[in-house]
Amino acid sequence: MTGTNPEADMPHIEPVIEIANLSIATGHTGTPLVDDVSLRVDPGECLGIVGESGSGKSLTLRSVLGLLPPALDQTQGTVRFRRDKEEGLRPVAPRDLRGHGVSMIFQEPMSSLNPTMRIGDLVAAGPRARGMSRRDAAERALRLLAEVGVPHPEQRARAWPHQLSGGLRQRVMIAMALSVEPTLLLCDEPTTALDTTVQDQILTLVENLRAERGLALIFVSHDLSVISRIADRTAVMYAGRIVEQGPTHDLVDDPRHPYTRALIESMPQLQGPPVRLKTISGSPPTAGLLPPGCRFAPRCPLVVDACRQADPPLLDIGPHRASACLRQAEMKVGEPV
Ligand SMILES: Nc1ncnc2c1ncn2[C@@H]1O[C@H](COP(=O)(O)OP(=O)(O)O)[C@@H](O)[C@H]1O
Ligand code: SF4
Ligand SMILES: [Mg+2]
Repeated sequence: MTGTNPEADMPHIEPVIEIANLSIATGHTGTPLVDDVSLRVDPGECLGIVGESGSGKSLTLRSVLGLLPPALDQTQGTVRFRRDKEEGLRPVAPRDLRGHGVSMIFQEPMSSLNPTMRIGDLVAAGPRARGMSRRDAAERALRLLAEVGVPHPEQRARAWPHQLSGGLRQRVMIAMALSVEPTLLLCDEPTTALDTTVQDQILTLVENLRAERGLALIFVSHDLSVISRIADRTAVMYAGRIVEQGPTHDLVDDPRHPYTRALIESMPQLQGPPVRLKTISGSPPTAGLLPPGCRFAPRCPLVVDACRQADPPLLDIGPHRASACLRQAEMKVGEPV
């Protein structure tokens, strides 16, 4: 289902990437997993994607780089990318983006660090593949390891991935991502597997790199407190669809979808006395077994009969804001719902 373009009234900055009407399904049964997702990221901007596990965040990111699992198909959607300031957005094939303008970091670095290569060689591999001499690539690797905060880079460059802690491995993966000088970095829950202190350090590193290098980011997390710290704008995903989108502060202060509100209420507060966190009752629908009408209806405290008639499209609800809830206007701050 296609809604109006929620970004239509944004000031005219040409985005670095524009993903339009992306849908993904299982190849065998055609079960839809991601449904008509459209996103854009402006230069230097961080777009957050948040939603419970299984909502389609990773598949959305992976499809941008053509990294979908073999059992899945992209059934519709286009990606346009802008390689440099002088160029306009151009349609691109996913494989042409990988390492050429776009890099990706993952939740579990061990699965993307070749265990048979030393750290220095891993970070040098991207530049080497692009024709850089062995010596220059090795120097770049050392510089990058230092930049991402790996202590004693010369010594660490000779280590194997399994000899490093989870936090250091994540720093190495970030160095590998930066080694090909991307303008857009895709981050798939890069802090989720880390303890909170290390998570905080890695988030600070990503924030600093973004500021220093003018990187644009798409940052995916199930944790709205992480997203609200790092993202300028946020898209909330539920059961394969975007259900709300807007500037992160506005969305957190004045959510216009009951699912966003539920995510906020389950978010630990940093300030004030400890309170018991609410959990979201029920669980997301199983892929292929969607309820009739609004996908959130079985869990929604505001559900009415009309919600079960058709899945509400994502519609503009104000400057830079979009919601896929029939009752969003009643949720306005101060309204009694
Ligand atoms: N290889 C696969 N085969 C079949 N279903 C898959 C596969 N990978 C992911 N899925 C399903 O697609 C949905 C979205 O997955 P994913 O994008 O990984 O969610 P998220 O990253 O939001 O946790 C989930 O229902 C998941 O079970
Ligand atoms: S459309 Fe209805 S069921 Fe869906 S989120 Fe809004 S109020 Fe809840
Ligand atoms: Mg995921």
